Amino acid sequence: MTRAPDLNLVPFVSVDHMMKLVLTIGTERFLTELAGYIEDDFKRWESFDKTARVASHSLDGVIELMPTSDGALYGFKYVNGHPKNIKDGRQTVTAFGVLADVGTGYPVLMTEMTILTALRTAAMSAVAAKYLAPKGSDTMAIIGNGAQSEFQAMAFKAILGIKKLRLYDIDPVATDKCARNLAGAGFEITKCKTSQDAVEGAQIITTVTADKQYATILTDNMVGTGVHINAVGGDCPGKTELHKDILTRSDIFVEYPPQTRIEGEIQQLPADYPVIELWEVMVGKTQGRREPSQITLFDSVGFAIEDFSALRYVRDKLKATGLYVDLDLLADPDEPRDLFGMLLRHQAVMA
Ligand SMILES: NC(=O)c1ccc[n+]([C@@H]2O[C@H](COP(=O)([O-])OP(=O)(O)OC[C@H]3O[C@@H](n4cnc5c(N)ncnc54)[C@H](O)[C@@H]3O)[C@@H](O)[C@H]2O)c1
Repeated sequence: MTRAPDLNLVPFVSVDHMMKLVLTIGTERFLTELAGYIEDDFKRWESFDKTARVASHSLDGVIELMPTSDGALYGFKYVNGHPKNIKDGRQTVTAFGVLADVGTGYPVLMTEMTILTALRTAAMSAVAAKYLAPKGSDTMAIIGNGAQSEFQAMAFKAILGIKKLRLYDIDPVATDKCARNLAGAGFEITKCKTSQDAVEGAQIITTVTADKQYATILTDNMVGTGVHINAVGGDCPGKTELHKDILTRSDIFVEYPPQTRIEGEIQQLPADYPVIELWEVMVGKTQGRREPSQITLFDSVGFAIEDFSALRYVRDKLKATGLYVDLDLLADPDEPRDLFGMLLRHQAVMA
């Protein structure tokens, strides 16, 4: 029997390495390439094991596990959502994840996914908009200017060619931060005083707020014909952003209906309300945008396959960049059944 060396080691990408990876590749190229991985995986939708994520809800937030497999690789992400966190200096959303080899069950990658989630959420939104937004869109409103917002802006610039941003947040400090961070990125930026003002002249409206309630970030009168809405922030039971009347005027596109019906804007609608699965649009089974006057809505909640694509992308970049450390994660006795013997021998090493 030949035994691979270093079976105990699993490549680990820290936050520091992830930042270096993004900056080495370049944010826009990273988002574009990642969008390509997501699109490739959505186009082979039927080869994946799919399940709505496993959510543990509490008064202040939610902790979720998001698993999937394509039969060769298995991936999962741990992610939380706690809107109150920013008050004491913590992120609303943090995450880490694992990719594993289905043949052996051994992990092949462990990585931070807080930054990676922001990138993959933005890449997913831009992929959806590529199929749904009005042709020639150049202006996007971003309502909610927190941690995810700049990533959304960069993905829409890289993939859709968005040039003008109209920003609004209930907290002007967040809008100032967002505008400052994007100042060198080549956008024409307008800071707005209300969401009504922000949507003026925008062909794409992104809502990416965090609040643990049925919020109404957009009311029906604010949404004109022909726009594309990228609704990112409503992603939990009891946590939505759009007034119900907007939903009934829109064609609604979703990731995985069994999960979106629990977590998305469509939790406000009957359980059999018609929605369109994005993967079907991507493979040409269903039409995306049919006509200029149509309102399209991407009811984004974030699905495990997007994280799987992100994990695959990061793993493919590791060898060339070397931006990881080997983690001593898996016990690896010389003789597989001698796990206890390995423990005993370690006593001698410690003595
Ligand atoms: N769909 C997905 O795949 C996905 C992925 C990641 C995060 N999210 C969700 O996106 C949301 C934003 O995440 P984040 O990390 O940027 O959060 P964050 O807390 O960093 O930022 C949220 C911002 O929303 C603003 N806000 C709250 N209520 C508002 C309102 N009524 N009008 C305007 N602005 C308002 C807050 O002031 C804050 O600046 C969260 O709800 C999170 O759960 C979704």
